Amino acid sequence: MEAKVISGGTRFTSLPRSYVRPESERPRLSEVSAFEHVPIIDLGCNDRSQVVRQVGDACRVYGFFQVINHGVSTEAVERMQEVAAEFFRLPVEEKMKLYSEDPTKTMRLSTSFNVKKEKVHNWRDYLRLHCHPLEKYMEEWPANPPTFKEFVSNYCREVRCLGYRLEELISESLGLEKDAVRNILGEQGQHMAVNFYPPCPEPELTYGLPGHTDPNALTILLQDQNVAGLQVLKDGKWVAIDPHPNAFVINIGDQLQALSNGRYKSVWHRAIVNADKPRMSIASFLCPSNDALISSPVSLLDNGCGPTYRDFTYAEYYKKFWSRNLDQEHCLELFKNQA
Ligand code: OGA
Ligand code: NI
Repeated sequence: MEAKVISGGTRFTSLPRSYVRPESERPRLSEVSAFEHVPIIDLGCNDRSQVVRQVGDACRVYGFFQVINHGVSTEAVERMQEVAAEFFRLPVEEKMKLYSEDPTKTMRLSTSFNVKKEKVHNWRDYLRLHCHPLEKYMEEWPANPPTFKEFVSNYCREVRCLGYRLEELISESLGLEKDAVRNILGEQGQHMAVNFYPPCPEPELTYGLPGHTDPNALTILLQDQNVAGLQVLKDGKWVAIDPHPNAFVINIGDQLQALSNGRYKSVWHRAIVNADKPRMSIASFLCPSNDALISSPVSLLDNGCGPTYRDFTYAEYYKKFWSRNLDQEHCLELFKNQA
């Protein structure tokens, strides 16, 4: 099926057929719950045990939370957003030099999700980068805009520190030593997806990203400050996470669900699009090292029961994830032990 970027600069007046979802799969935007809100956690709070408790509750109940006073500088965030917006404004011929549909590439511009596997496309373009170790990957990043490498690498460094802090809080909230999660995940990879969702002529008929869970350990998402679009599934209902000033949205990925023996949930979420404004979001993914063995600590096994999931390496999991379409069953289901 033919697909190429949709951030080419011309506004679409109708939605191409290859993006139209069958009626039963459409977002039904009027049914999105307006009353629930995911927790906002102040990481600047001096009462650590309170923060640990808030993180634990959020991970159990929502799988999602937002953080403020998170230590990532306003300057780093603003420069990241500026240079990402500038990248997507480049002429389409310039961007297409980076285009690829091969998920094994460590740097590529692409569109939708997994163009070669999916039946219906998604209204998204994205730039995907590997970000750790920076010295290894920065070389292959876009050279245009000229400030790209500097601004993005600074942002990546700061976000990684935040990720480590969050993993310590998550460890403690599971009753583990502060370093336990990091020790299991090994030398973590870091990937970035700069998501760009152009205005969409028929937002009711398609998605920016359909419901999915993130295959990695932890995701740190910088939402567009002005345009909403992220929604999470809570008790069978979609709940919008509207942008909160200076906050990051954090979510538990599949690996932390497995490591926590299912106590913390890698929750379904999706990005919807809108008719008027482009939306950008910048996702940073912390990923276990490829050879990390994902296995629950014994203290998290329930009395007399074995682990919910069989042990696996992240390399094995990641390969399985990309061999599938995004909106199939939870990928972790395929790694469950028999009851
Ligand atoms: C993702 C994602 C949500 C958004 O990139 O995995 O869930 O709001 N993005 O763009
Ligand atoms: Ni996601």
